[in-house]
Amino acid sequence: MTPKVIAMAGKGGTGKTTISALIIKYLIEKNLTPILAVDADPNVNLNELLNLEITTTIGEIRKDLKGDMPSGMTRDQFMEMKIQQSIIEESGFDLMVMGMPDGPGCYCSANQYLAMSMDRLAENYRYIIVDNEAGMEHLSRLNLHSIDHLFIVSDPSARGILTARRISKITEPLKLDVKNKHLIVNRAPTPLSPELEGKINEAVQDSDLPLAGIFPSSDELIHQEITGGSYLELSNDVPMLKTVWAAFDKIFS
Ligand SMILES: Nc1ncnc2c1ncn2[C@@H]1O[C@H](COP(=O)(O)OP(=O)(O)OP(=O)(O)O)[C@@H](O)[C@H]1O
Ligand SMILES: [Mg+2]
Repeated sequence: MTPKVIAMAGKGGTGKTTISALIIKYLIEKNLTPILAVDADPNVNLNELLNLEITTTIGEIRKDLKGDMPSGMTRDQFMEMKIQQSIIEESGFDLMVMGMPDGPGCYCSANQYLAMSMDRLAENYRYIIVDNEAGMEHLSRLNLHSIDHLFIVSDPSARGILTARRISKITEPLKLDVKNKHLIVNRAPTPLSPELEGKINEAVQDSDLPLAGIFPSSDELIHQEITGGSYLELSNDVPMLKTVWAAFDKIFS
């Protein structure tokens, strides 16, 4: 199976991790599984929105690779075994956590082993969703050469959208084959004033960044985050999810 790859981009704090969690919820509900969720943010937090405890990160495995291998095992076999063990298996999706990137004195060829293992691992999934920080470097480390859906998340302002357009351009020289880009304007006030809506539409016009949706700010999401409940358990009656699902229907069906 060749998985479809979903990745996130956007300025800090715009809602990349939140929207990653909602995409996972959506894909599970639509039976578009199995999914591999990759938390590629060194400040790991996707697991929190899914209410999962992390045991091992890829960063830690990388350190283990420096030492002696168990007898009869090559480094790439060892890496693959360790990755399998570190993945958190849930119903419909698995979670893999990257952890800290290479620091000084890194065992950098570990990234080659990781890339090799990813090729084999990827075949098990229908979707791979990577929640990253603003940068895209993780995608090259993971050996994901093409991105089927790149979500660029913006705050609800004309200036925010200009930033999103800039980020969208930065992805071009990265040798990443991005098939579809989707702009999400997140945390919009309800009701959306015609002025703001006009500004958003104006900022989107003439850009190669199609607007996939304007998602409202949601008290239910904030409540879920504060109480530490999984976003997967949010009720589908939450008004925001209706808007989000309508946007995802157009993208994933
Ligand atoms: N639609 C929304 N309604 C209410 N709160 C939201 C919404 N989207 C995101 N948030 C809140 O905004 C904050 C930042 O969201 P999130 O962590 O998803 O952003 P991020 O882009 O992943 O940030 P970072 O760049 O730090 O990884 C969180 O507290 C989250 O709960
Ligand atoms: Mg995040």
